[in-house]
Amino acid sequence: MNILFFGGGNIAQAIITGLISSDYEKELIQFIDRNKANKKILKGLGIKESNSLQVGDNFDLIILCVKPKDAVSAVEEISSAVKNPKILSLVAGITSKRYLTISENIRLIRGMPNTSSEFKKGITAFCNINAPKNLYVKVQNLFSRIGVLVDVNSEKKIDDFTGLIGSGPAYFFHLLQVYEKELLKITEGNDRLTKSIISNLMIGVGTSIDSGKSLEELISSVASKKGTTEAGLKSMKANKISSSFNKSIKVAIKRSKEISSEF
Ligand SMILES: NC(=O)c1ccc[n+]([C@@H]2O[C@H](COP(=O)([O-])OP(=O)(O)OC[C@H]3O[C@@H](n4cnc5c(N)ncnc54)[C@H](OP(=O)(O)O)[C@@H]3O)[C@@H](O)[C@H]2O)c1
Repeated sequence: MNILFFGGGNIAQAIITGLISSDYEKELIQFIDRNKANKKILKGLGIKESNSLQVGDNFDLIILCVKPKDAVSAVEEISSAVKNPKILSLVAGITSKRYLTISENIRLIRGMPNTSSEFKKGITAFCNINAPKNLYVKVQNLFSRIGVLVDVNSEKKIDDFTGLIGSGPAYFFHLLQVYEKELLKITEGNDRLTKSIISNLMIGVGTSIDSGKSLEELISSVASKKGTTEAGLKSMKANKISSSFNKSIKVAIKRSKEISSEF
């Protein structure tokens, strides 16, 4: 499948890096971007810059990876240059209704990935708006190379997924800053060792979850009566960490829905 990335920033780079490491042929990928720094990074990855959208008809898929504020004008640009554009929008918030008012000829899939696609550990939700079945299957096959897929049947769930998973890595990076600060004291400022410890902690957590045990079982396998873990968990409960985390996720989901009314 010939792919054009429209917008070559953070998420496009993560997906492209993941695809390359899954042995996807670089020659099948091109990009359009106006940002010099991003152009340089993508060229460094061996990805060709498309010099014109006029060649858009030659692409099996255009992956829209611009910020929400740029999405409408980007799709207007695409629609004026390409007769029947097949677009996978990875943009948060902007609804299919908005895109399809630009042109009814657009064949559209909405997707919501996260940056872990870079390491083939991505999670991507898809909602097929009006794309032919064979294109939808091809898109799913493409993203299955770089992570887990979730097929959602309503577009609204893409917003929920955005707040939960698209933003997901940042929540954990944020929480881990607490760990980093404490660990740096133990490792006497050894940044590399500190990062390795945090990374192993997270890989261990992920692998434990993959083993199929419930989260409750996993907690009790670490916490023992009157032990340190139990004391830590008790304090977390007293400080309402879970409900505070839950509130933050809900705020993010709400924000994802608000974006659609802004553009
Ligand atoms: N980052 C994530 O973790 C993540 C996860 C899931 C979904 N997403 C979605 O992915 C989209 C992109 O996010 P991002 O973080 O990758 O953004 P980004 O790093 O800002 O990348 C967007 C790139 O597109 C370029 N661009 C915008 N309009 C253009 C145009 N008309 N012609 C050519 N280039 C254009 C931008 O150039 P300028 O810098 O000059 O504006 C920028 O280089 C967002 O809508 C976001 O909701 C992101």
